[in-house]
Order: sequence, then structure tokens, then C-alpha cells
Amino acid sequence: MRKFHALALSAALVLLTGAVAQEPTPSPQTPAAGQSSGQQQGGVRRALPIPDKFTNLQVLPKDISKDQLVQTMRGFATSTGTRCIFCHVSKDPNDKEGNDLSKFDFASDANDHKKIARAMLIMTQNINKEFIQAQIKPLMGDEAENVTCFTCHQGKKHPQHKAAPPAPPAPPTPATPPAEKKQ
Ligand code: HEC
Ligand code: HEC
Repeated sequence: MRKFHALALSAALVLLTGAVAQEPTPSPQTPAAGQSSGQQQGGVRRALPIPDKFTNLQVLPKDISKDQLVQTMRGFATSTGTRCIFCHVSKDPNDKEGNDLSKFDFASDANDHKKIARAMLIMTQNINKEFIQAQIKPLMGDEAENVTCFTCHQGKKHPQHKAAPPAPPAPPTPATPPAEKKQ
């Protein structure tokens, strides 16, 4: 029972971030362009210098595979438009940009952004369990999709809270046929 729950949860997790849809089967040929935070070398993925054992998972399943964890973390980063260093800490005080992942202390909770992200994770799971799955899906059917980090963040640290102001009125378009000479 517990096991089953953990399994269902970790499957759901990959979906949670909303940004991993393209990732599960990394194609050997195409290095994904741009946005992965510097961990790619010559198109070879998965060479992240991160520990194999995780010691401070409080929400993610403790037996999550390294692949799934990495996917989830990439999803966090992509969804919020950040890199690993935004939520984690480096033991190298000179590496402010967080370029050397081998110097990170990923288990540390010293970075408040990590604690916020953990709360966000719980919030997102609760929205999906208590609202989308329990109340909305019975009414909407399969159109009711789970919320992900991306649903709100759309690649930004701060979700937009208000509709964009209406666009300024377009400048008057010049009359197409040049106005005939008056008189
Ligand atoms: C938006 C915040 C955020 C970003 C960005 C982020 N992480 Fe995380 N990371 C977390 C949170 C939150 C946890 C703890 C989850 C939990 O408690 O279950 C975590 C946990 C981890 C752990 C497990 C540490 C342990 O031993 O418990 C590793 C490893 C990790 N992240 C690696 C990465 C890598 C690599 C990146 C960049 C690709 C990254 N993270 C980007 C928020 C983030
Ligand atoms: C229901 C909408 C919603 C969802 C889903 C959501 N967030 Fe957020 N997030 C917010 C809001 C609202 C704030 C705080 C206000 C703001 O940033 O403008 C916030 C703030 C944050 C911050 C703090 C940013 C900062 O500058 O300190 C992080 C980190 C974050 N979210 C990560 C995540 C992650 C990771 C997920 C997915 C597990 C997630 N969020 C899912 C709405 C959401």
C-alpha cells in the first residue's frame, strides 16, 4: 500500500514540474538547445556531478531514482526561469554563479528559496489531489489537467498576478490610398 503510493507519487512528480515532457527520452543526437543550466558538455547529458544518495528529501519520495530527481530539478529550474544556484548553495564562496555543481551542498536548506520551493511542491500536490483530481476531474473529465510549477510560473520567478495592461491604442494607420488633393 505504501509502496504503491510512493510509486504513484513519483510518477506524478515528473508531471508536477510541467517542464519535463520533452525530457524522458533524451535523444542521443540532438543536444537540447540552450536552457539547461550549463550541465551539458558536447551534447552529453546526465553527467551532473551530484551525489547518488539523497539525504534531505522531505517531500519527494526518498527512493526516487537519480534520473527522476534530476528531471524534477531541471523542471523546477525551467519552470521558474532559474538555475540550480537559485535554490541551492555552493561550498565555493567564489562561485557565485553556481557553475561548478560538484561544489554544491544540495542537501543543505540554508537557501530560503529551496524552502519556498518545497512549500510550492506541497501546495502543488495538494491542489492536484484535493481539487483537480477529487473535485474538478469528476466534472470536467480528461480536460482537467493537473497543475504544474509551469502552470503558474511560465518560466518566471514570479508568476504574473495581473492581466497585462491593454495595449496602447495603435497609431492611426495612414489612409491607404493617399488622400486626394483637396479642393
Ligand atoms: C526552484 C528551486 C530549485 C531549483 C532551481 C533546483 N532545486 Fe534541487 N531541490 C529543491 C528542493 C525544494 C529540494 C528538496 C525536495 C524535498 O524536500 O523533497 C531539492 C533537492 C535536491 C537534491 C537532493 C538533495 C538531498 O540530498 O536531499 C539534489 C541533488 C538537487 N536538488 C539537485 C538540483 C540540481 C542539480 C538543480 C539544477 C539542475 C536543482 N536541484 C535545482 C529545489 C530546487
Ligand atoms: C498556483 C500557482 C503556483 C504554482 C502551481 C507554483 N507556484 Fe511558485 N509561486 C507562486 C506565487 C504566487 C509565488 C509568490 C509570489 C510571487 O512570486 O509573485 C511563488 C513563488 C515561488 C518562488 C519564490 C521566488 C522568489 O523570488 O523567491 C519559488 C522558488 C517558487 N515559487 C517555485 C515553485 C515551484 C518549484 C513550483 C512547482 C513545484 C511552484 N512554484 C508552483 C505561485 C505558484
